Amino acid sequence: MLNRIALILAALSWSLTSPCFAAPRTAASADADGHPWWEHAVFYELYPRSFADSNGDGIGDLNGITARLDYLRDLGVDAVWITPCYPSPQVDFGYDVSDYEAIDPMYGTLQDFDRLLREAKQRGIRIVMDFVNHTSDQHKWFLDSKSSRSAAHRDWYVWRDGKGQGAPPNNWLSLFGHSAWQWDERTQQYYYHFFYPQQPDLNWRNPAVETAMLDVTRWWYQRGVAGFRLDAVDTVFEDPALTDNPVLPGKNAYGDPRMHNVYNQKLPADNEVMQKLRGIADQYGAVLIGETNPVDVSELESYYGQGGKPGLQLPMDYLFTNVRTLSAAEYRKQIAAIDRTGHWPVYLISNHDVRRPVSRYGDGQHDDAIAKVLAGMYLTLRGTPILYYGEELGMANNDPTRREDVKDPIGRLGWPDQKGRDGERTPMQWSNAPNAGFSSGQPWLPVPASYKTHNVAAETADPDSVLQFYRRVLELRHTEKALLDGRYVPLNPDDAQVLSYLRRIDGEAVVVVLNMSGQRRHVRVDLATPGLANRAEILVSTLHGVHGPVDLAGFDLEPFGVLIGKVGRRASGRF
Ligand code: NOJ
Repeated sequence: MLNRIALILAALSWSLTSPCFAAPRTAASADADGHPWWEHAVFYELYPRSFADSNGDGIGDLNGITARLDYLRDLGVDAVWITPCYPSPQVDFGYDVSDYEAIDPMYGTLQDFDRLLREAKQRGIRIVMDFVNHTSDQHKWFLDSKSSRSAAHRDWYVWRDGKGQGAPPNNWLSLFGHSAWQWDERTQQYYYHFFYPQQPDLNWRNPAVETAMLDVTRWWYQRGVAGFRLDAVDTVFEDPALTDNPVLPGKNAYGDPRMHNVYNQKLPADNEVMQKLRGIADQYGAVLIGETNPVDVSELESYYGQGGKPGLQLPMDYLFTNVRTLSAAEYRKQIAAIDRTGHWPVYLISNHDVRRPVSRYGDGQHDDAIAKVLAGMYLTLRGTPILYYGEELGMANNDPTRREDVKDPIGRLGWPDQKGRDGERTPMQWSNAPNAGFSSGQPWLPVPASYKTHNVAAETADPDSVLQFYRRVLELRHTEKALLDGRYVPLNPDDAQVLSYLRRIDGEAVVVVLNMSGQRRHVRVDLATPGLANRAEILVSTLHGVHGPVDLAGFDLEPFGVLIGKVGRRASGRF
C-alpha cells in the first residue's frame, strides 16, 4: 500500500514540476492507479526528419513537433520517442552522433527542445530520447582518438592491429556490409564499427567511456526527459580476444559470407550496462526501451533483468514484425509465448527500420482493413504498444525505384536486393495540400501518392478511416480496465484464420475477435467461462449495420474484420 502511495506521489510530482531541469524523483513514477507510468502509456515513435517541418527546409524539426502536440494528445499518445536529433553528419540520419548533449541545428535549438518538453507536459505527454552507444567519426572523442596512438581518447574506441598484408584483425562483419574494421592510415591500425565506418564503436571496457555515457543520460533526465530507447543495445561489447565468428553457408545481400555474430553481439556484459542505466533511470522515474534482437522469447527474458538485478522495463523486440504472413496462428503463438513469461510485453508492428505493415501484408484491396486488424491486435494486448508515426493513417511504404534516389546508405550499398529504409521514413501525411502538408519546401524524401486519401485531415472527416479506428481503440485502451490490466485468455486456439481472445480482470472482460484472412468468416466463439454471458456489446468494430449485442455463438466477420466487445455477466444479463 505504501509503495502504491509512493508511486502516486511520484506521478503527481511529474505533473507538478517544471519539465526543465527537473530534480531526480525517488520512486518510479506511476499513474493514478499506481502502475508505473510506462505500463499504461501509449508510446509514439517519431522520426523527426519526417514528422513536421516548421521552417520550409524540407526536413522536419522540433518546432514542427511542438506544433502538432495537440494532434498527438487527441490521438491518445502518452509518450513520444524521438529518434536521434543530436548534432550529426547524418550519415545514418542521426544514429551517428557527434555531440550527445545538444540539438542538431537542422532540428532547432536546446531552447526549442525545452519548449517542446514544456508544451508536451502541459498535454500530459512525456518525451523519450534515443541513446546511441556508438558515435560519429566526427565526434570530438573520435577525432582525438584517431589523432595519434597516444591521444587521450585513443582507448575510447576499439583500435587493433591487423593480421598483416591488408588483413583486418578478424572476420567480423558490419551489419551494414563488409568488414567491421576500418583501416586508419595515419595511426596504422584498424578501428571497429558494427555499423557504418562513420559510426565507430565506443570501447565500453574503458571505465571513462562508461562514466561519460551514463552521465549523458543524467544530463537529459535533468532536463526533463522521461527515458531512453537504447539503440542496438546488444552491440555494446565485443569479445576482447577478437575470436572469429562462425561462418554460415551462403552470402548476404552485400555479397559477404553469412555469419553468426557470436563474439560481437549479445554478450553478457551488455546486460550489466543495461542494469547500470536502469539504476540511474529509476532515480528519475524514467523508462528504458531497448532495441533487442532475441531469436525467441526465452532470449528476450534476459533483457528484463538478470541475477536479481532489473534490466529494461520495455525490451522492444522484432518478434511481431518478423511474422512474414498475416496469420492468426502465427500471431497467437507469439502472443502466448510472450504472455507465458509473465513479463510486461511491448508491441510494435513497424518502425524506422521495418517496412510498414500495409506494405508487408497488403493485397492492394484490403489495405485499410489490414491496418485496422493489426491495430485491433497490438493495441488490445496486455503490454505497452509503440506506434510508429503514420501507422494510424494506414501509411504505406514508398520505396525508391532507382538507386540514384536512395538516401539510406544500406540501400545504396545493397541495391537492388536491399532497397534501404527510405520507404518507411517518408513524410507524415497531414493533408492533401502540396507535400502532404508536411513542408512548404521540397521534402527530403518523396511523399507517396497515397497522401491524397491517407492524411490526417481526410481521415478525421471519415468515420470509417484507419485514423478514426485508432482513435477509438486508443480511447478504449485508456478507459477499459480489462484492456489495461486484464489477463490474456486465448480463445478458439485451433482457428488458423481468426485470432480471438479475452482480456479479463475481476468482473470485467473484453473480447477481441480478429479475422486475419481475406475471406468473410463465420465465427463461433465460446467464452466457456463460468459467469460470463456469451454475448458482447460492441465497443469498436468494423461490422456494418450491426447494432446491439453480438451473439458470440455465431456471427460473420468480413475480410480482416474486427470485433472488440464488452462481455457481460451471465447472472444479470446486462453488459
Ligand atoms: C538501430 C537503428 O534503429 C537504426 O536505424 C540504425 O541504423 C542502427 N541502430 C545504427 O545505429
